[in-house]
Parts: sequence; C-alpha cells; structure tokens
Amino acid sequence: MKRNPSACDLDRLRRSPLLGRVDWHPTLPSTNDFALELAARETLETPLLILADEQTAGRGRGVNRWWSGPGALTLSLVIDPLCIGPIPLRTEHWPRVALCAGVSLCEALIEVAPQVDCGLKWPNDVLISGRKVAGILVEVPPAAPPVPRRLVLGMGVNVNNSLADAPPDIQSAGIALGDATDLEFDATRVVLEWLSRFFRNLQGLAIDDPNLPRSWQSLCRLSGKAIELQAGERRVGGHCRGIDADGALLVETASGLERLFGGTLVRVST
Ligand code: BTN
Repeated sequence: MKRNPSACDLDRLRRSPLLGRVDWHPTLPSTNDFALELAARETLETPLLILADEQTAGRGRGVNRWWSGPGALTLSLVIDPLCIGPIPLRTEHWPRVALCAGVSLCEALIEVAPQVDCGLKWPNDVLISGRKVAGILVEVPPAAPPVPRRLVLGMGVNVNNSLADAPPDIQSAGIALGDATDLEFDATRVVLEWLSRFFRNLQGLAIDDPNLPRSWQSLCRLSGKAIELQAGERRVGGHCRGIDADGALLVETASGLERLFGGTLVRVST
C-alpha cells in the first residue's frame, strides 16, 4: 500500500529476480552509511537494495550534503562485483560504475517519461533540461578478507518530490521528474526500470562493450561547453569534448587535450 507518492511497493521489488534482498526504512541518517555497515559483514545476500523514505544526513560527493524531500527516491545498492551476472566486474571497471548507473538512469527516465530531455553531467549527475534530477555516489568499502569485495552505490532521484520545498541554491540547480512533467510517477517502476538497465549495462562494462561509452558520450551534456574544473591542485579550463571509453572527461585546453579522471566542476558556460 502506498504511504505517500514516494513509497515503493516492497512486494514488487522483492519479486524482482535481480535482487537478493530489499530493506526499507522510514528514516535513516544515510542509506549509504547503513549500506557500508552491512557491506562489512561476511555473509550478506546481494544485490541488496536499501530504501529510505527520509534521510537525515544524506551525503553527496566530497563534503556535499544530499537534500531530498518527501516523494524523492533515496536508495543504496550493495553489489558483489564478482556476482553481477555471468561476467564478473574486474577492479579496473569499478571507477566507471557511477557512469554506468547514470546512463541506466537516463534510459529508465526516458522510458517512463519520453518527453524529458535527460542527460549526464560528468562524473555523477543526471540532468533533466540541464538541471540536476539525480546524484550518484559509489563507495568502495576497504578490503577486509574474508569479507567479499563489495561496492555500495547510492542514488538520490527527485521523482515525486517538489524542488519548491528545497533550499534556494538547490531549487535553482535542481529539478524533479514530477515538476518537469506535471505528472506523478510510479517510483517502484522507476527503480525496476533502472535496475534492469543497470545490470545489463554492468555486463556491457564487464566485457568492454563499445556501446556503453557511446551512450555516455551521446548523453554528455557538458560536450561543447566552456568549463573549468578543480582537479587536485590544478585548475583546468577549456572546452569539453565529451567522455571517453575509460570514463575520463575530455577537455580541450590551450595546451592540448586533457583526460581527467576526477575533479570538481567549478564553472560551466550556459
Ligand atoms: C551527489 O550528487 O554528490 C551524490 C548524491 C548521492 C545521494 C544519495 S541519496 C541515497 C544515498 N545515501 C546517501 O547518503 N547518499 C546517496
């Protein structure tokens, strides 16, 4: 039974053959923190999906906080990279899991709302009409044998919440699927559409299928824009030329083409 427009139908999620276990909490500080605790256990049914209707200390990249109002999806998925399907995911692929999740979310949102203009903002944001609809945070718990290696993927998606309730800075940069379309969405369907595409795309990543980088390149909404990034101690400015097959952001600078594997965007031309 729906408690509010955000609540997922747990029975439907638990029937999914893609998931080993589904946990739901009315409120948690952070689904990723909880997922990291569980990921440290030797025995765990994976993939494990953790959902919370409310987070009191949701985390974003670095020191950022994640705001979400009632109606938003806040979830973490714990996966065992050796057991994501017939082909295991080698460690060299792990840094591209967030992009893979972002591509999958774009595909899922386009499936449920074909009218939206959905794209990626490297490295971990999903945009609708240039505004942030979702953020992704992948964390790798430290190796602790005999505990199997696991990845924790956290994702916040503005589905049926309204950014009208958000602090002003988030309001101007963010968007919710419901606000963008004036419709209410079946949050469970959004999760299931995302999961099926995510596990399929992870298999693509595992076999270096060239279609996956083609997808993130065509979804990259920074392409062609003048951008500036803080990459460690360096400020890098230039024109974005997309995202390459290794997941690096391509920036054409005055001194040549740079491939950036990390960094924070500090300016994007409109
Ligand atoms: C970002 O935009 O910087 C990433 C945001 C990730 C937010 C999600 S919400 C569910 C999960 N739990 C958290 O504390 N963070 C992630």
